[in-house]
Order: sequence, then structure tokens, then C-alpha cells
Amino acid sequence: MHQPTRLVVLVSGSGTNLQALLDACAEPSYGARVVAVGADREDIEGLARAERAGIPTFVRQVSDFETREGWDASLTTVVERFEPDLVVSAGFMKLLSTEFLDRFLTLNTHPALCPAFPGMHGPRDALEHGVKVTGATLFVVDAGVDTGPIVAQVPVEVAEDDDVASLHERIKTAERAMLVDAVGRIAREGIAVEGRRVRIGAEGR
Ligand code: GRF
Repeated sequence: MHQPTRLVVLVSGSGTNLQALLDACAEPSYGARVVAVGADREDIEGLARAERAGIPTFVRQVSDFETREGWDASLTTVVERFEPDLVVSAGFMKLLSTEFLDRFLTLNTHPALCPAFPGMHGPRDALEHGVKVTGATLFVVDAGVDTGPIVAQVPVEVAEDDDVASLHERIKTAERAMLVDAVGRIAREGIAVEGRRVRIGAEGR
């Protein structure tokens, strides 16, 4: 078996997606390990989860830099230090620079079925639109907002009595399972991205 795929995970909040990855990585046959966790703010549960798991963390806060470009460059440098095979943006609330994305294959999870409802309020926007089915999408990050090539999607039915919180919670449960499944398959079988088409396995990696 080859070396486990090295993951750097970026978080901004509660980090339940991160926790799902940490739990999966505890099993050697999963094929990946989280080598570092980065955040754009201090004092979040996502960082605490990493610390409890004994994983190195770093924080790059935009307000600590004179320019956004300075922040972008610093984030790229610190991530590079951990030599990731894959970066997973799991609830990371910042856009990443093209330099960063050219350097690292980066996946992001979004709590809606792309290309529907991009941006910060996927569950709210889906609810307001009155859709009967929404879900979560794992995609390769590109320069747009939630526009990149799609790796995996999972549907979630909207219930009559859902509010934004209850819908988002159900989406997150499905989202975590999707993330763990796709990242594990990528780690074990590789990934090939050709234009908008993403294939896991065969000639990937
Ligand atoms: C997820 O639903 C993610 O798609 C969205 O924010 C949530 C993050 O949850 N961008 P957590 O921090 O992993 O618990």
C-alpha cells in the first residue's frame, strides 16, 4: 500500500466535516491522513478538534495583513510547508487565490446542489425558493464561487416544517458522509479532472 494521502483541511467554524475526516483517517485502510488544519480565525471549535487529535494547526487572519494579497501569499506558504496531496476546504469562509489553487488541488463542500444556490446561504436560499430537494456538493475549487467541477453530490429532501437550521443540519449529516466517502476514494484510487468532468479512480493521481 502506498503512503497515505496528505490532507490539509481549512476550517472557519464548528468543524464537523473536519471531525468526520479525522475519524475516518483513524482507520489506516482509509488511505489518508490529516497533516495540518488551518483557519482564518482563532478560538473556533474546528481548531480545538484538531488540537485534541494532536494535529498541527495554523491561523491566518485577514485583518493581521496589510493587504489581501499578503494574506493569500502567507496562506500559500504555510500550506506548502505541510506538502499536501489534497487541500479540503470544509466550511472555510474565504475565497482562495488563483496562486493557491494553481499550487494545490483543493476541494470544497457546499450545502446545496450546485449550480443551484451558490454563496453563503445555500440552505436559506433553497428553502426560500421552495425546492423540494436540495443537498450538498463536493467540487474542485476554481476562481468562481461554488462553480468548480463537481466531484460528488448528495440529495436531501426538504421537509414541510423545515427551517434553515433544521434543513442545514440534515444537509450537513449527508454532506459529511459524502465528503468522507469521496476523499477516501480519491486517496485510494486517485482523481482525474478534465475540464468539468471529474473521475475518481483509473488514471487518476
Ligand atoms: C457546511 O455545511 C459547509 O458546507 C458550509 O458550512 C458548513 C460547515 O460546517 N460551508 P462544519 O464547520 O464542518 O461543521
